[in-house]
Amino acid sequence: MKITSVFQHPTGLYILFFTEMWERFSYYGMRAILVLFLVSESSRAENPGWGWTDSEALALYGWYTMAVYLAAVPGGWLADRWLGQKRAVILGGFLLCAGHLILALETVCTFYTGLALIIAGVGCLKPNISTLVGELYAPKDLRREAGFYLFYIGINIGALLGMVGVAVVGEFYGWQLGFGLAGLGMVLGQAVFVWGQRYLRGVGDSPGRQKDNDFVVSPLTYVEKDRMRVLLLSFLIVIVFWGAYEQAGGLMTLYASEKTDRFVGGWEIPAGAFQGAAALYIILFGLAVAYFWQRWYAAGQESSALFKMAVGVMVMGLGFLFMSAASVQFEHTGSSALWWLLLAYFFHVLGELCISPVALSFITRLAPLRYASFMMGTYFAATGLGNKLAGELGRYAGQVGEFALFTGIAVFCIAFGLLLIALLRPLNRLTHGIEQVDTESAST
Ligand code: ALA
Repeated sequence: MKITSVFQHPTGLYILFFTEMWERFSYYGMRAILVLFLVSESSRAENPGWGWTDSEALALYGWYTMAVYLAAVPGGWLADRWLGQKRAVILGGFLLCAGHLILALETVCTFYTGLALIIAGVGCLKPNISTLVGELYAPKDLRREAGFYLFYIGINIGALLGMVGVAVVGEFYGWQLGFGLAGLGMVLGQAVFVWGQRYLRGVGDSPGRQKDNDFVVSPLTYVEKDRMRVLLLSFLIVIVFWGAYEQAGGLMTLYASEKTDRFVGGWEIPAGAFQGAAALYIILFGLAVAYFWQRWYAAGQESSALFKMAVGVMVMGLGFLFMSAASVQFEHTGSSALWWLLLAYFFHVLGELCISPVALSFITRLAPLRYASFMMGTYFAATGLGNKLAGELGRYAGQVGEFALFTGIAVFCIAFGLLLIALLRPLNRLTHGIEQVDTESAST
């Protein structure tokens, strides 16, 4: 494959960057107003919703956010088995455009049809576009991980623009327009991907079974089996990570809303805006963390993906100690400072940056080609399970209290990370040398 380099990365990376940016714009934008629309009184003169209770709306939200990620398993399988990644992304993009635009019609029938199309669309697009990023690089190219960091920044630019843009339009100008704007974002994403095909020649064309020639009768080799084992273990780390981190959309947002002094200079920061802070931190610090790990590697330090993921879980866990401090302050003064939340999110994002782009890159290096997208789909399914676990953990705070829950999460994450580091050597052995990068291709 001939790679035309832009800033030392294949041009195709920027096509995938902007496609995924708009896809996430539509996903997070729609998600930002979904619950608000459902609970808004149906009798309101302006911008009425469906008048659901909080609990009904949150239940749908929980199932929906889990389903979009679980759908990545069949979506990945479809690409590996029949379509190849590029066609699967185009199909996913088409389903997403249709789903978001149909949803905007707001009748019961079109709403549920829209949700179903979005679930299928994310399932087809999300794992396969991530696998495509990996396919742009040779197996041991050092730039691969940096490429995933850039891609991840694109994800968060889209998330931030979507959360702000769709929320403002949806809340102030009408839900329908908000859902429509999310759909428009996806139309742009699809246009970028279709236009950019010329920069993606030679990647993701045919199903992995044709490349490996034996999808149907394909017993894994001894080395592949070991690599699959270590991948499955990394998915456990992913479940633990998102199970803790995703308190963001639930318990931490409720904490911001009910127990935090959110006034700055007489102006009240909306509780939901704190989640936007996480996306902003990623945009600001994504490249710095990537650079840090490159320097760390150059200094000859332990740089395996599992090590970075273990560090990520611990750093994110540390962030919960700021929430413990917030709970103590609330107990004593009846309100807690907003800095606790901002500090907690800062540590959460540092942890996320050590895990999420690293895991994406790790999967594309480790999974046998004929299972590449299926394994990516399984990774996103682990993310979905983490999201569901987060909801259950958050509800548990009602029984044990916030201080105990936040501190418990912190202690568990730090202990879990230390255990992983203790087991690093045998676990890294299971990758059979995949961690040795090709520094020559990195400099081309
Ligand atoms: N935050 C990650 C994404 O949206 C899971 O891709």
